[in-house]
Amino acid sequence: MTRVFVARDSGALAVGADEVAQAIAREAKARNLPLEIVRTGSRGLYWLEPMIVVETAIGRIAYGPMAAADVASLFDGDVLAGGAHPMRLGPPERIPFLVRQTRLTFARCGIIDPRSLEDYRAHGGYRGLERALTLGPAAILDEVTKSGLRGRGGAGFPTGIKWKTVADTASRQKYVVCNADEGDSGTFADRMVMEGDPFMLIEGMTIAALAVGATTGFIYIRSEYPYAVAAMEAAIATARRAGMLGKAICGGPLAFDLEVRIGAGAYVCGEETSLLESLEGKRGLVRAKPPLPAHKGLFGKPTVINNVLSFAAIPFILAEGAEAYAEFGMGKSRGTMPIQLAGNIKHGGLFETAFGITLGELVDDIGGGTASGRPVKAVQVGGPLGAYFPRALFDTPFDYESFAKRDGLLGHGGIVVFDDTADMAKQARFAFEFCAIESCGKCTPCRIGSTRGVETMERIIAGKDHATKDRADNIALIEDLCNTMKLGSLCALGGFTPYPVMSALTHFPDDFAPPATARLQAAE
Ligand SMILES: Cc1cc2nc3c(=O)[nH]c(=O)nc-3n(C[C@H](O)[C@H](O)[C@H](O)COP(=O)(O)O)c2cc1C
Ligand code: SF4
Repeated sequence: MTRVFVARDSGALAVGADEVAQAIAREAKARNLPLEIVRTGSRGLYWLEPMIVVETAIGRIAYGPMAAADVASLFDGDVLAGGAHPMRLGPPERIPFLVRQTRLTFARCGIIDPRSLEDYRAHGGYRGLERALTLGPAAILDEVTKSGLRGRGGAGFPTGIKWKTVADTASRQKYVVCNADEGDSGTFADRMVMEGDPFMLIEGMTIAALAVGATTGFIYIRSEYPYAVAAMEAAIATARRAGMLGKAICGGPLAFDLEVRIGAGAYVCGEETSLLESLEGKRGLVRAKPPLPAHKGLFGKPTVINNVLSFAAIPFILAEGAEAYAEFGMGKSRGTMPIQLAGNIKHGGLFETAFGITLGELVDDIGGGTASGRPVKAVQVGGPLGAYFPRALFDTPFDYESFAKRDGLLGHGGIVVFDDTADMAKQARFAFEFCAIESCGKCTPCRIGSTRGVETMERIIAGKDHATKDRADNIALIEDLCNTMKLGSLCALGGFTPYPVMSALTHFPDDFAPPATARLQAAE
């Protein structure tokens, strides 16, 4: 029977994937054609969704972007045999956007049925855990450390060191927590993993539990991700039934079980200590560190807390060995990074590649420039707390240290593109406003500084202080506020808000200058 693959991930559903799948089923029934529709995750070529992939004698052939109204025309031709059609894209793995990628974490996403454990296994799933069970905790920690994996949630902390700290902390109860709050603007890789390859996350967390001696795990998913919640819950139930979670994993002595918890819509609940507070049923207030979560985390017990992508990298590392992962990348940034191209960009989507590719290649070559067709003015990398990069810095390699050297950060790998209509003074105001709205309120520089920042930026934008000492004073006040927030905030929400503000001011000073007419008036 012919199999047709249609994505069921949020990005594809948003542009009508369900309607396309229903139209295919209707058309097949009307024409009495036996056909199986397999709902997958997305391959992450979002400008081509809804994309359908047909399994034919010459391999899988993709067509897209499809609309329900196009479906009848698919059946009129010999599309089910991979034939010609205006929307024919050819074999998906030959689409240039995919050819240029190195998919280690996303190798299965969009290809397998995320609800099928058999499909997961048939595509290499659970090989990592099987090897981990033979290695034992110390050797697993060694592999993870040697792989050079750094946390993909934003801070880039070495995962092996974090796990070893938890492993070395004596306690009868330990936890593994997955941070799936994914609050950064322009990011969606965690969601794609959960919706497209959920057993990979379960496998990664199970290996972590084995390495550190934990028996219980939680996946904290943002409330805006109902499809990811459903996919994870279904996968957890299946894994439990198959003995891959529960009291005797793979029939052995390891016990580990998982539960999903849903966040309440606060950006700051992605910060690890505030997430733990929220998991404990309290308000999402940031905790002072030390103690580190690795020593005293959830309910005061040693806790591994990692991002979805960090756990998702683990099965490959254990299955293929640390060297196979570490051979990709540059400097201290090893392996691959699932980069998310978003905002005003022609080819938005998921691009997994080894560290080291330049920002310009990502935005211009791979992303194809802006969707509006206008010149790129700025890109914000690393979420709402990331710096704005001008074209002059497009030669920056995508790696943690190169970005830090240029006062930027990689964060969770989100790139949001702006064209020349963007007003960077307004973006600087927005950075302060975002911080004011999302601040947990625990420390003064963030709670008060962000509001003072909004007020000051509004005075600058209103231009009432044009070409006068007032304007210079207001800019100096912004710089002063940024310094205070950077040095005095308890967490990176207040501490990193200066990145977008100061990068906007440094790289786009004209947007902060009074309008030409105002300058003329002032000069008169
Ligand atoms: C304000 C704020 C929001 C954050 N949001 C997230 C998030 O949504 N997802 C995430 O994985 N990490 C987030 N982090 C980073 C976490 O605090 C933490 O570093 C991460 O969960 C550790 O996992 P990793 O080592 O695998 O990156 C955030 C940090 C801050 C300060
Ligand atoms: S910096 Fe902001 S979010 Fe972080 S602890 Fe202080 S008030 Fe809370």
